[in-house]
Amino acid sequence: MSAANVGLWLYENGGGLHIQNAIVNALKQRDINCITGLNLRDAHARDGHIHCNNILMEELDLFLSYNAGQQTQYQLYLYEAISQSIPTINNFNAFALSEDKFKTSHLLNNHGIITPEYRLCHKNDTDGLKKAIKDWGGKLVYKPTDGWGGAGIVKIEGEQALDMLLPFLSRTDLRYFYLERFIDYDNTDFRIDIVDGQYIGCYGRKAPKDDWKTNITSGGSIFVREPTDELINLAKKAALVTGLEIAGVDLIYDREKERYVVLEVNGIPAFATPEQEKLGLNFNHKKIDAIVNLIDRTVCKSNAKVA
Ligand SMILES: Nc1ncnc2c1ncn2[C@@H]1O[C@H](COP(=O)(O)OP(=O)(O)O)[C@@H](O)[C@H]1O
Ligand SMILES: [Mg+2]
Repeated sequence: MSAANVGLWLYENGGGLHIQNAIVNALKQRDINCITGLNLRDAHARDGHIHCNNILMEELDLFLSYNAGQQTQYQLYLYEAISQSIPTINNFNAFALSEDKFKTSHLLNNHGIITPEYRLCHKNDTDGLKKAIKDWGGKLVYKPTDGWGGAGIVKIEGEQALDMLLPFLSRTDLRYFYLERFIDYDNTDFRIDIVDGQYIGCYGRKAPKDDWKTNITSGGSIFVREPTDELINLAKKAALVTGLEIAGVDLIYDREKERYVVLEVNGIPAFATPEQEKLGLNFNHKKIDAIVNLIDRTVCKSNAKVA
């Protein structure tokens, strides 16, 4: 019998299946058995257990949830419930935090990590909105706090543009506005992967011509990019503050203030796809090793506690 059973839910597209196989094989060598495909969409809870594909989730030694794209409220709800009984990677609290842009920026700033200046305003606080755009030299970015892939992020330039939007904004059923100063940058960013406090790899993304969003889904392209030690340390610190065991830290260089700022910390940073590996993004091995070591250590620790 295996020493431990670990549940996995990993994305399968873009080379994900290959990564999953590598993780499963590496864990097998350490006498850790994996159950894959544990999509909580197919799960249900009763009698003190969450059942997913005939597996009792609470009887696993650990659950690795690593599926890109938006999870439904249902999946997140069960992820949270499971994390009350067994270790999860990422741990649920950190993952939930990373899904909220305001809470992440707020916590990072609270720990002295610079992000774009931000404000959260009540939806009726038009004075607050106007003051923000004035204070920030006439440009701001509105972001849905739970968005991803650049969706719903709008740049508002000039007080007049804001005046035009205000009547529409007041009709929306949003409770608040999350705003950021628009950072003057060269439309490229750094994505730095950190696993278990270790630097794993880095690449850059460049926004398409005439756009300022670097997301791949907004047409951004990936390129090989080496970070400085300063950037690596900043990314490590950001990952530590968020509490994410696996983190993808996005940074840009603010040309006006001449400093790097942390844009966001992603809780499911994608592995390099086969195409990206051909470009020279060669950190997958290191990332798999770090994740496997982390799982092994966590499983041993919690089994030692039981024994
Ligand atoms: N305050 C900002 N100033 C300038 N560009 C920004 C700012 N915030 C975000 N961006 C650009 O928009 C992209 C998407 O923003 P981000 O906060 O990372 O949201 P998402 O979760 O949708 O990726 C970033 O990758 C960056 O290129
Ligand atoms: Mg982003």
